[in-house]
Amino acid sequence: MILPTHVKIVEVGPRDGLQNEKQVVPSETKIELIERLAAAGLPVIEATSFVSPKWVPQMGDNAVVLAGIKRRPGVTYTALTPNLKGFDGAVAAQADEVAIFGAASEAFSQKNINCSIAESLKRFEPVVSAASALEIPVRGYVSCVVGCPYEGVVAPEKTAEVAKILFDMGCYEISLGDTIGVGNPASVARMIDACARVVPIEKLAGHYHDTYGMAIANIYASLLQGMAVFDASVAGIGGCPYAKGASGNVATEDVVYLLNGLGIETGIDLGKLSAVGDWISATIGRPNGAKAGRALCARSVS
Ligand code: HMG
Ligand code: MG
Repeated sequence: MILPTHVKIVEVGPRDGLQNEKQVVPSETKIELIERLAAAGLPVIEATSFVSPKWVPQMGDNAVVLAGIKRRPGVTYTALTPNLKGFDGAVAAQADEVAIFGAASEAFSQKNINCSIAESLKRFEPVVSAASALEIPVRGYVSCVVGCPYEGVVAPEKTAEVAKILFDMGCYEISLGDTIGVGNPASVARMIDACARVVPIEKLAGHYHDTYGMAIANIYASLLQGMAVFDASVAGIGGCPYAKGASGNVATEDVVYLLNGLGIETGIDLGKLSAVGDWISATIGRPNGAKAGRALCARSVS
């Protein structure tokens, strides 16, 4: 099996990471985080989400954050938009790209966005049409691609069905979310097999939370299947407010360390990225969840 020569990493820490923090993280910290991630070479940064502040208060400063960042040429700043109201907010705040987010599990869909899968897909259609009229690319997420906190195991075919609908709707890339990090290389491989039958593999991305410590193994399994886009969160920050016990995404530093070792290009400076991970962990008062990041920072002070 030939591994990809280049991988795109989508940094989701400022959104998926910080959305779950109990303490409100000041907008200035979020802005500094995004700017430092861009300076470390991250090509795509999910900066915030335009969701209801009643549901996720932590992202209530979405417009302030997008207005505050000094944009680096070549970097794409994205935002989650669950409906037209969110999309309008993201456009007004000049997000470069937006993402709609559905699920492969009915119960999670209800808990996360307060509607059924079918209703959510209906709600996404006008978002995709409006984005298309403005030539704004739309990414599609599918949550609970292998397991759901409420329903248990999710069938690969169900995930593939939702992925295909989002792709056919006009999403240019489908990010497959192991929201609660229960996947392993076998279950993730089965899920990707099913999805790649209906959506080209180069249009699929892996979004793996690391609750059971399997995320890096899952990325390696996905690389072997030809996947070349992965979402990750600096210092492994985060979790999902609607999936109790879920830990953050795989740490970006660990993913870059893996890819460097495999000779796969990312354009990311691992030293700079590790310093960002150390800084944000200290700033929000959390242990640094990136093993490679911790090791590299310890080496640089010894
Ligand atoms: P709802 O209550 O069903 O919405 O929420 P509604 O249309 O009935 O509106 C109710 C109120 O919300 C109204 O305000 C609307 O204006 C307002 P009121 O009249 O009561 O004052 N509202 C909004 N306000 C701001 N921005 C909006 C918006 N929409 C409505 N966009 C809704 C439906 C989707 C809005 C809600 O359920 C929600 O915001 N959910 C957020 C869920 C979320 O952010 N989850 C975390 C992100 S997803 C994730 O982490 C998974 C992922 O990482 C992949 C993975 O790991 O699997 C992506
Ligand atoms: Mg997530």
